[in-house]
Amino acid sequence: MAIRTGAEGTLAVVLRSIDHIGVAVADLDAAIAIHRDTYGMPLVHRETIEAQGVEAALLDVGESHVELLAPLGDDTPVGRFLAKRGPGLHHVAYRVDDVAAALDELRAAGLRLIDDEPRTGIRGSQVAFLHPSSSGGVLTELVQPAAEGRSPFNDAMDGVVPHQEVDRTETEVTHG
Ligand code: CO
Repeated sequence: MAIRTGAEGTLAVVLRSIDHIGVAVADLDAAIAIHRDTYGMPLVHRETIEAQGVEAALLDVGESHVELLAPLGDDTPVGRFLAKRGPGLHHVAYRVDDVAAALDELRAAGLRLIDDEPRTGIRGSQVAFLHPSSSGGVLTELVQPAAEGRSPFNDAMDGVVPHQEVDRTETEVTHG
């Protein structure tokens, strides 16, 4: 397959960091117990994502996360993955500034995409998957985190933390 590259032999897409690794699990609570209670990773988010057929949990590890994925049924992508391969590493996710722009670049470079357009992922992020056949056999996800203060997670936190956005705006008005 021909891959178009820039002058330096690289794509223009900038992968900022490894956002998370996705792990397929059969028993979410048991997997959380290992990662949180044994490894000591803080559990920071848990969400059922109907569109992806999973219940997911995010645990912090440094600036990155482990994303545990339990299928909502056998006839879901993760359900089929478990039936075929058993529990284990499912995908790697890279953080990008703009998923839509990254998809345009990767499509132009000839990579095979699973998602032609970004879709909403965990914690209000915008995500898209690349096909393993174009990425060395690794199911690869691009993640654009939700803007600060605008994700469902932060909305949920609004009731328990000071609303700094409002405070800042009022300060600007006062000093304007
Ligand atoms: Co993921």
